[in-house]
Amino acid sequence: MSQQAELEVGGKVYQLPVVVGTENEHAIDISKLRDESGLITLDDGYSNTGSCSSAIAFIDGEKGVLRYRGIPIEELAEKSTFIETAYLLIYGHLPTSQELRRFSELLTQNEMLHEDMKFHFEGFPPNAHPMAILSSMINAASCFHPRLMEGYQPRNFELQSARLISKVRTIAAFSYRKSRGLPIVYPKPVYKYTANFLHMMFSEPYQDYDLKPEVVRALDLIFLLHADHEQNCSTSTVRMIASSRANLFACAAGGVCALWGPLHGGANQAVIEMLEQIHREGDDGSKFIADAKDKKSGKRLMGFGHRVYKNYDPRAKIIKEQCDRILHLLRSDDPLLAIAKKLEEAAMHDEYFIERKLYPNVDFYSGIIMRAIGIPIEMFTVIFAIGRMPGWIANYKEIMDEPNSRIYRPRQVYVGPREQHYVAITQRDT
Ligand code: SDX
Repeated sequence: MSQQAELEVGGKVYQLPVVVGTENEHAIDISKLRDESGLITLDDGYSNTGSCSSAIAFIDGEKGVLRYRGIPIEELAEKSTFIETAYLLIYGHLPTSQELRRFSELLTQNEMLHEDMKFHFEGFPPNAHPMAILSSMINAASCFHPRLMEGYQPRNFELQSARLISKVRTIAAFSYRKSRGLPIVYPKPVYKYTANFLHMMFSEPYQDYDLKPEVVRALDLIFLLHADHEQNCSTSTVRMIASSRANLFACAAGGVCALWGPLHGGANQAVIEMLEQIHREGDDGSKFIADAKDKKSGKRLMGFGHRVYKNYDPRAKIIKEQCDRILHLLRSDDPLLAIAKKLEEAAMHDEYFIERKLYPNVDFYSGIIMRAIGIPIEMFTVIFAIGRMPGWIANYKEIMDEPNSRIYRPRQVYVGPREQHYVAITQRDT
């Protein structure tokens, strides 16, 4: 029997249906509220508002649980690869060997950029932030594929999504090489996805980068752990743009811009900048933590806290374990790791963080691994974007496959001036 919620306002009682999700989440469906009552709801930051029903990712923030299409992130991290997980997110099931082979072949066939794209790269100043380059070059790339402008066609989706996943990696590597004044290194079909990215980033025309399997695996895991995460800021942005029926590349370019913010994907860069500042100042972390607790300081413990996780982010746990392994392998003794661990230890025993349920999130340790691999700090959020691409694509497809999906158009509560009238400029100067 379906459940109902009752809302009593001004002596009138409204019956609202209650929707129950797979994991027993309960939601009050308010889609008819304004028609029936003239009322809307207000929810700063959407903390209490579900924008959609989705079957892609599931998070239990209280328990620190994350599943992609029902499979726990810990199992995928241990047994899967980024590209196999990308297929799972986009198509809703783990691929057969034939499906995975076809998907990989499509990625290989679409790894190159149109040669004229090089002129766009020439147009950026050397210090252009790679996230600015990435978002603009994704849209630029779509101009070379006119069929994209036809909007969503199921028969074209497989090729378009493979194009986006493959080319975003090439764009990122090319923008890095350009920013360093290095010659562009083209992809090699013999390399798989993540290895090819490292090849394009770090090989030289005269010799290929030494692709250590553990390093490839560590970066592939970083991509996998970032692949999707329910209706986070950037994924919600992608859905917002998709709801107007814009093309896939336009949605992804918008997602990149939303991800860039330091409160979201930009946090991985901000964490390292924070750790470097603490190291530089010889602070044992206690001064920074004191500042982070003091609202007037304007500082936050970057990489800590989460809108949904009120427990340890399961991705942070996995990445933290990888840190020790990869630094040991690369014999890289990064003092920032020790500082990060001390910060975590201090915060986890500090009443301020405990009562607010602030734990390390995915960004707290990921930068340590990227540094050890040699990825420059300004590329950290680009790495996040490459990883998140399958999640954005899966959410785009979910909206497009929903025949009755409507354009996203939230309401507001108006708090501006009451009606007033135009005043000629001659009257205004008196
Ligand atoms: C990502 O949504 C997703 O799923 C995102 C993501 C994904 O995979 O897509 O998981 C990736 O974006 C991870 C988050 C990366 N951002 C950071 O690490 C930046 C630092 N963290 C915060 O700014 C904050 O925790 C947010 C942005 C992550 C969450 O912000 P909320 O949910 O709006 O929480 P809030 O700002 O309302 O904070 C609640 C309280 C406040 O104190 P009080 O007003 O109650 O006294 O906690 C405090 C905040 O001041 N607080 C922090 C803090 N985070 C929250 N205080 C110090 N340091 C922090 N990091």
